[in-house]
Amino acid sequence: MNKTVLNFQNVWKTYRMGDEIVNALAGVNLTLEKGSFTSMMGPSGSGKSTLLHVGGILDMPTQGTLLMNGKDTSKLSRKKQAKFRRKEIGFVFQRFNLLNQLTVMENIMLPSLDSENNKAEELLERIRLEKKHDKKPNQLSGGEQQRVCIARALINNPSLILADEPTGELDTRNAEVIMNLLKDLNENDGVTILIATHNQLAADFTDKILEMQDGKIQ
Ligand SMILES: Nc1ncnc2c1ncn2[C@@H]1O[C@H](COP(=O)(O)OP(=O)(O)O)[C@@H](O)[C@H]1O
Ligand SMILES: [Mg+2]
Repeated sequence: MNKTVLNFQNVWKTYRMGDEIVNALAGVNLTLEKGSFTSMMGPSGSGKSTLLHVGGILDMPTQGTLLMNGKDTSKLSRKKQAKFRRKEIGFVFQRFNLLNQLTVMENIMLPSLDSENNKAEELLERIRLEKKHDKKPNQLSGGEQQRVCIARALINNPSLILADEPTGELDTRNAEVIMNLLKDLNENDGVTILIATHNQLAADFTDKILEMQDGKIQ
C-alpha cells in the first residue's frame, strides 16, 4: 500500500479584504502519495500558491484538515509545526530568493539542522556547481541560482518538495535543466514533489497534472 505524504480534506482558505471575502481555497481534497510527482496548472488567482503555502504549513487552513504523514497539522504546536516544516519540507520559489551577501555554499547550508557540510558538498555536485561554491548568487545565471535553491531545499533530506513556478523566470533550456533535476530527485531519491506552473513543458515532466480553478481542483 502506498503511503500518503500529504492529505487535504475539504480545505478552505478565506481571506478578508475589508468587506470582500476571497475563498482562495474552496474545499480542496487532494492526496499526495509518497514518491508522486504532481503539477498544478490553472489561471492566476486560482489558488495554486495558497495551496502550496497551506500544504507546507506556512499558513493554516480556515477550515478543513491537513494531514502530513498521517498527522493532523493543526494539532501541533507552532514550534512543532516549524520543526516539522524544516525537517520534512523543502520549498522552491519562482524568485530565487537567495541571500546575496552569502556564498552559494552558505546559502545551501542556511536552513541546515546539522552543522556538517558533507551533505552540501554532495548537493553541489548533484546540481553540478561544485566549482562555484564560493561565488555569490548575483554571479550566477538564473538557471544556476534556481539549482542552488533546489540544493538548499534538499539540505535536510525532506520527504516533500513544494515548488511555486520553479521555471517561471527561466528560458526553455534552463527550465528543462530544472525539471530534469526534479525528475531525477523524484525517480532516484523517491522525493515527493508538487509544483505549481504556467508552463506546459514543465508540467509534462510530471506524472499527474491537476487543474485549479476558483480555489478548487477540477
Ligand atoms: N495574503 C492574501 N491576502 C488576501 N488575498 C490573498 C492573499 N493571498 C492570496 N490572495 C487571493 O487569493 C486568491 C488566490 O491567490 P493565489 O493562491 O496567489 O493564486 P495563484 O497562485 O493561482 O495565482 C487570489 O484571489 C488572491 O488575490
Ligand atoms: Mg501563484
